[in-house]
Amino acid sequence: MNITGKTKILGIFGYPVNHTISPAMHNAVIKILGLDMVYLPFEVKPSNLQHAVNGIRGLGILGINITIPHKKAVVKFLDKISEEAKLIGAVNTIVNKDGCLIGHNTDGYGYIASLKQEIGFNPKGKNIIIIGAGGAARGILTTLAAKKPKAITIVNRTLSRAVSLARAFKSRFPDIQFKTIALNENILKTSLEDVNLLINITSVGMKKNEALKIQLEALPKTAIVSDIVYNPLETSLLKRAKKLGLMTHGGLGMLIHQGAKSFKLWTGIDAPIKVMRKAALKALKIGGGR
Ligand SMILES: NC(=O)c1ccc[n+]([C@@H]2O[C@H](COP(=O)([O-])OP(=O)(O)OC[C@H]3O[C@@H](n4cnc5c(N)ncnc54)[C@H](OP(=O)(O)O)[C@@H]3O)[C@@H](O)[C@H]2O)c1
Repeated sequence: MNITGKTKILGIFGYPVNHTISPAMHNAVIKILGLDMVYLPFEVKPSNLQHAVNGIRGLGILGINITIPHKKAVVKFLDKISEEAKLIGAVNTIVNKDGCLIGHNTDGYGYIASLKQEIGFNPKGKNIIIIGAGGAARGILTTLAAKKPKAITIVNRTLSRAVSLARAFKSRFPDIQFKTIALNENILKTSLEDVNLLINITSVGMKKNEALKIQLEALPKTAIVSDIVYNPLETSLLKRAKKLGLMTHGGLGMLIHQGAKSFKLWTGIDAPIKVMRKAALKALKIGGGR
């Protein structure tokens, strides 16, 4: 890599940021495409977020990814927000257009793109159950609902969060049937009977021996079980689903496709997905995360 005064800078703000595999994915793409760019991780304490955002302008940084815990907090420091990021209420990508900082959110896009590319799933007219009602659930729901599924059931440990999420989406997508259920060991079997896709959008599964207590046996044999946790690549939820003969879908594709969309927003170039995946897998093997 030959860094000069012309080298464009990309990067990620997070706290902590030492686990991120985004630099590995983006720098692999930069290298293979022969671009004069570099992608750097920046550890930004919450108290320094505004200074860091001003630094994007001050240093002429081309683009930045935003990760935990800054996705919501960064919104108020930006000049413009995309419609999708407005709906989600969080930003994971900043584009610096001649000093004007524009916030986008590519998480929901990343999830739907990986569903389509990896298992050819089209949400239109389908019955979908999501477990989780946090930031990632909101991002995925925003893109998912736009694809016109028939029904979405939101299951969450804290029921009130599921209810307020369903209420917000119901008013925007009146044609979709929304239901909410509290997450407990006895999730109604009848809620699983005609499900096409079940998605884990909680952090459960990241720790060894941690599993969602969902009676996967109640799902129809044609159902797909999806988990957005990508470290481990195969969570215990996906292992159980596989044992039952169900089709599974892991979380790495979401990470890759959201990164590819960010790259396109910054450079106008389609990032080679295969290169990103190979770099992500290599980085994960040596102990990374987003
Ligand atoms: N693949 C990707 O590219 C990608 C992208 C973004 C996020 N993620 C992953 O998605 C997960 C969720 O992220 P987020 O941003 O939505 O986090 P968040 O806003 O903090 O929400 C966390 C969600 O997990 C639930 N939860 C946490 N611990 C739980 C437990 N022990 N039992 C049951 N439910 C539990 C929470 O339920 P309560 O409401 O009851 O607290 C909430 O619904 C994280 O693991 C993150 O790494 C992956």
